[in-house]
Amino acid sequence: MMDEAITSEIKRLKSERNAVILAHNYQRAEVQAIADFTGDSLELARKATQVEADVIVFCGVYFMAETAAILNPSKTVLIPDASAGCPMADMITGEQLRALKAQHPGALAVCYVNSTAEVKAECDMCVTSGNAEKVMASLPRDREIIFVPDRHLASHIAEKRGETYVLWPGYCPTHQRLTAKAIDEARAAHPGAPVLVHPECPKEVRDAADECLSTGGMCAYARSSSAKEIIVGTEVGILYRLRTENPDKVFWPVDEMTLCPNMKKTTLENLRDALRDMSPKVVVDPEIAAKAKRAIDAMLAVS
Ligand code: 13P
Ligand code: SF4
Repeated sequence: MMDEAITSEIKRLKSERNAVILAHNYQRAEVQAIADFTGDSLELARKATQVEADVIVFCGVYFMAETAAILNPSKTVLIPDASAGCPMADMITGEQLRALKAQHPGALAVCYVNSTAEVKAECDMCVTSGNAEKVMASLPRDREIIFVPDRHLASHIAEKRGETYVLWPGYCPTHQRLTAKAIDEARAAHPGAPVLVHPECPKEVRDAADECLSTGGMCAYARSSSAKEIIVGTEVGILYRLRTENPDKVFWPVDEMTLCPNMKKTTLENLRDALRDMSPKVVVDPEIAAKAKRAIDAMLAVS
């Protein structure tokens, strides 16, 4: 009843403000349900470039809303809870990256999209978990490459491409908690079910899985797979979308405590308040935004 009242208020405010709601696949079920578009980081970045509405309400973590603002400087981008950060993105600062670049003169700098605008502004190329392999294949092989901040995604792509990158010790605390033992236990409980994990998982977890995919990749896999049961090693918010889109299939989390607290900060209440108050707004320094946009545009041009 309560949800119904808030939902209709959000719908009314959305049309009054000429707004669209974009939500990441890890958002709360009720937030995904009211969103106009749900996707992974790459799909959301692409969608942000196509928005015609005046206002984007971004339900995800800060770097995602910041990416939408960088790609679409003429739009107002709102984030329902501005404290929804990504701890991994905060594991490297612009200053630390500048120091690393100084130690590797001539190297190309690549950042995972899970990074601050200041870090992106220092980079030649951005990648997401959905396109990293393809984007890295577009870079010259004779240049040294710095890849920040996620050491797990970087090692995963380096292994797949037979390359070596200069790494940074960043990681996702949510995916870090997954273990190969938990995967073995899930396999024993659900024999024959394929195991999907996210590339932010540690190597022993990636090695124990059948597929290592972005959240969008997991949704696509689930749609096309003939498997009736699938084991999923990532943030459990994705289960809502997987189950909604595939009612004939059963999805098992590797570990149901795989939660990103920041992804859960968006609620229907603060989403409604953001639309009502037109705040908090995501504002990026224009000079940093212009430099960061070059790295994101370079990525979108090849993937
Ligand atoms: P995706 O781009 O795969 O959705 O990943 C985003 C993220 O933050 C994963 O932790
Ligand atoms: Fe960041 Fe990990 Fe949360 Fe994704 S799941 S937003 S990488 S902390």
